[in-house]
Amino acid sequence: MTDMQNSVATTLEINGQSYVFHPGETVLNVAQRNGIDIPTLCHDPRLEPAGACRTCLVEIEGARRLMPSCATPASAGAKVTSENARIDRHRKTLLGLYLTDHPDAKKSKERRTTNQLLEMAESCSAPTHWPNLTNLRPSRPGDRNPYIDFDAEACILCARCTRYCDEVESVSAITLAGRAAETTISTADGRSLLDTSCELCGGCIDTCPTGAMAEKRPITRGEKHEEELTKVRTTCNFCGVGCQLDLNVDPDGNDGTGKVIKVTSPEPGTTSNDGNLCVKGRFAYDFIHHTDRLTYPLVRDENGQLQRATWEEALKRTAEGLLGVKEAHGADALAFVSSSRCTIEENYLVQKISRAAIGTNNVHQCAAT
Ligand code: SF4
Ligand code: SF4
Ligand code: FES
Repeated sequence: MTDMQNSVATTLEINGQSYVFHPGETVLNVAQRNGIDIPTLCHDPRLEPAGACRTCLVEIEGARRLMPSCATPASAGAKVTSENARIDRHRKTLLGLYLTDHPDAKKSKERRTTNQLLEMAESCSAPTHWPNLTNLRPSRPGDRNPYIDFDAEACILCARCTRYCDEVESVSAITLAGRAAETTISTADGRSLLDTSCELCGGCIDTCPTGAMAEKRPITRGEKHEEELTKVRTTCNFCGVGCQLDLNVDPDGNDGTGKVIKVTSPEPGTTSNDGNLCVKGRFAYDFIHHTDRLTYPLVRDENGQLQRATWEEALKRTAEGLLGVKEAHGADALAFVSSSRCTIEENYLVQKISRAAIGTNNVHQCAAT
């Protein structure tokens, strides 16, 4: 193949500029990789394209209709336009139609999470004065699961939640159900998620662009909106995988010391967990401010009763105890057991204490068995 044929086979044009693409990429992939902004709602880089929302339409020379860039494979020599009056008119009309049976900004705020549809409609100056239609999509108000709330009125049927549940979780607990204006997201027989194969991973909440799937507790507890919370990146401590998560903290909560309102996952593609979390990482955060939580060291007094101590006192007592056993019975009388729930650095330090500080190879970690 000549150089010219090779370059024709691997480039397309977007807005008059030539870009190289890789096999399997869509027009949207090429645009995003090159910093060209194309609005999307049903796109999630973890999922197969669905072409459901039609916000990412572009013009492709020779094509009669506007094409969904998220679902159109990049093809050699294609000439793509991502912005012009026709696309703008289409997008405004589309978003205006979505708004006719969608909650307004005030109602949407009750979901405590951002609504990308409303943000996009505002930035595109979509019409907001068209008559309202009654939403016919049924919700599941009786679902007694403790974490996930579904508001069908805010649902735009982009199917990100169902595709996530199928393609990432391989669980298929939720599905598109019903016909026409009554189409909604449902479970088998409309059961509670607790009575389905749902693993309560919360990935459907994370991927939902409008807050139709949202976390229950911030809503029922009347917490602040996500926009008023501060995100603090940390490593999940429930297992040794090391998923990154964002604590959403209300700085004024907990008497001004800060209160974790919820946990969200970082953007897909930015950390090793790729935007995914398990039920514990995403929802088991109430222990943080639980009154039973041990937040300082305890040591036993002469009567065997646990008393509050400083870290210096506690570490000193620990060292004295370990060295006392070593002196009386030898280093191999001691053994150290670590946990796969610790980080690799913590596990390294346990074996370092065992071997270097005490002098025994009696060190084990639960994942080694
Ligand atoms: S929580 Fe996870 S498993 Fe359950 S419906 Fe949502 S995506 Fe599916
Ligand atoms: S609940 Fe959210 S993610 Fe699921 S289809 Fe509706 S808008 Fe899309
Ligand atoms: S993002 Fe392309 S159709 Fe929804």
